[in-house]
Amino acid sequence: MLPSVIFCSVLCIATTITRAANILVFMPLPIKSHVRGFQPLFQELSNRGHNVTVVSSFPLDHPVANYTDIGPFIDKTRARNVMDLVRMNFITSVQLKWRIGIQLSEMVMSHRNMKQFVQSNSNSYDLVMVETFGQEYAVAMGHKFNAPVINLAPAMIWTSISKWLHVPSTFSYIPDACTQSTSDMGFVERLKNTITGLMQSYVENYLYLPKTKEVMNTYLKYKGWESRPPLEHMLNNVSLTLVNSHNAIGISRPYLPGIIEVGGMHIKDPKPLPRNLQTFLDAARQGVIFFSFGTLVNLNDLPKEKLKIFISVLGRLKQKIIIKWTPDDSNIKLPQNIMTGSWFPQRDILAHPNVILFITHGGLHSLEETVCNAKPVVGVPFFAEQNFNMKIVEEKGYGKLVNFFEITEESFGNAIEEVLSNVMFKEKAIIQSQVYKDQPMKPLDRAVYWVEYVIRHGGAGHLKSDSIGLNDFQYFLFDILFILFLYIGLISWSCYFIYAKIMFKNV
Ligand SMILES: *[C@@H]1O[C@H](CO)[C@@H](O)[C@H](O)[C@H]1NC(C)=O
Ligand SMILES: *[C@@H]1O[C@H](CO)[C@@H](O)[C@H](O)[C@H]1NC(C)=O
Ligand SMILES: *[C@@H]1O[C@H](CO)[C@@H](O)[C@H](O)[C@H]1NC(C)=O
Repeated sequence: MLPSVIFCSVLCIATTITRAANILVFMPLPIKSHVRGFQPLFQELSNRGHNVTVVSSFPLDHPVANYTDIGPFIDKTRARNVMDLVRMNFITSVQLKWRIGIQLSEMVMSHRNMKQFVQSNSNSYDLVMVETFGQEYAVAMGHKFNAPVINLAPAMIWTSISKWLHVPSTFSYIPDACTQSTSDMGFVERLKNTITGLMQSYVENYLYLPKTKEVMNTYLKYKGWESRPPLEHMLNNVSLTLVNSHNAIGISRPYLPGIIEVGGMHIKDPKPLPRNLQTFLDAARQGVIFFSFGTLVNLNDLPKEKLKIFISVLGRLKQKIIIKWTPDDSNIKLPQNIMTGSWFPQRDILAHPNVILFITHGGLHSLEETVCNAKPVVGVPFFAEQNFNMKIVEEKGYGKLVNFFEITEESFGNAIEEVLSNVMFKEKAIIQSQVYKDQPMKPLDRAVYWVEYVIRHGGAGHLKSDSIGLNDFQYFLFDILFILFLYIGLISWSCYFIYAKIMFKNV
């Protein structure tokens, strides 16, 4: 008994110690929130002694030891007016994803720094982490370095990703962000969701995948690329997928053992606030409303009449307001209760007990922070999956969605009034917060554990779905159904035939 206990403990300790590894992160597309969402993981891995090389368009602001940035791959920051991106329907937003993926990929992959990195043979890596949103070819880095691949998903995985892993994405209740529904879908919504799902499952393979392969075959001609397996096989062969989501913020759905939810990795323990903010927040007897539309939406880009709606509604409230915004027009007279600034420590502000409401664009990271701090929200979504996120918030009951295109002083004011006056919103926020916080491990620790797990095992093929070898006819049992129907048909026909014979004889 005793020796086996000792043996077991030694074994347990041995299997949890991981040698320092050379890790490559390859997510070159210039989509900031996708990279920022996983950067805390890369930093933590470097802290733990791994040598992390990050190929991305967003280097760290301050370099840290054991962490090498390669990039960026954009020559000038292309300011994009967010108003170009809004107003999408469920079909055009699937096509938009394909188009953005190919355009941005051509841009970053043809950059001279990227060519240099791809051609270089001076480094070797034990593990490759890639993001596959619009950059499926990135998985070829696993082939170049002969290393296992971890996939980083910036939000709850959608059909374009889950199909390669054989994660069920049942269209009847797992909503796609493009359809902007929740898991509670009526007939029309299920129809839309099915169309979006089928586009990603099948149409994509003809309209989009060939273009991705072209990018891969044009720009990823490293030494030995001729022996590369087909893109589909490499995508099937990913060891593990880390997903930036959590069911307290998203929906409850089936995953496989190799799909790990790590949403909220960026949330650290609250830090003390700067003096002026602390005073402002402490002094607000009636409470504080925090207003931020994230990094991409600049309030100055919004139509002036919409901006006026926000300011005049907020100016009438008795609460104090903090707005992340630098007015570009110095003539604007702001009401007394409003404080503005170009940047605020959002997570730390939300942690302050006097903050009673968060007005947000519904970005995933903002919602993770608000849920963690149990603050109800009023959401004004703009693009990407923000509308979808806010619909889920409404379903879970800790906030209200206001449509930006139809916003009026009345609709915006009423939403704020309702969320502040009805305690149900706060109660639901507290419930979500408890659900989110009650986890066996913090999301960042979980992510580190699983990355090191893949390093320890030199890949995690055993976590993949056992169905990978099946084609769709076998997977959905179409072949079996066909035979069954044939069989039933034959029997029915024989019965009818015999019956007819007997009847005929009697006549
Ligand atoms: C960098 O890695 C080494 C081991 O490779 C480790 O001893 C050191 O603590 C790491 N440095 C930092 C700042 O994380
Ligand atoms: C760490 O990674 C960098 C960049 O890939 C590389 O230049 C360096 O040699 C690596 N260090 C070690 C100790 O492997
Ligand atoms: C699958 O990944 C393993 C390493 O995890 C590698 O040895 C193998 O060659 C890969 N196969 C394909 C088809 O990519």
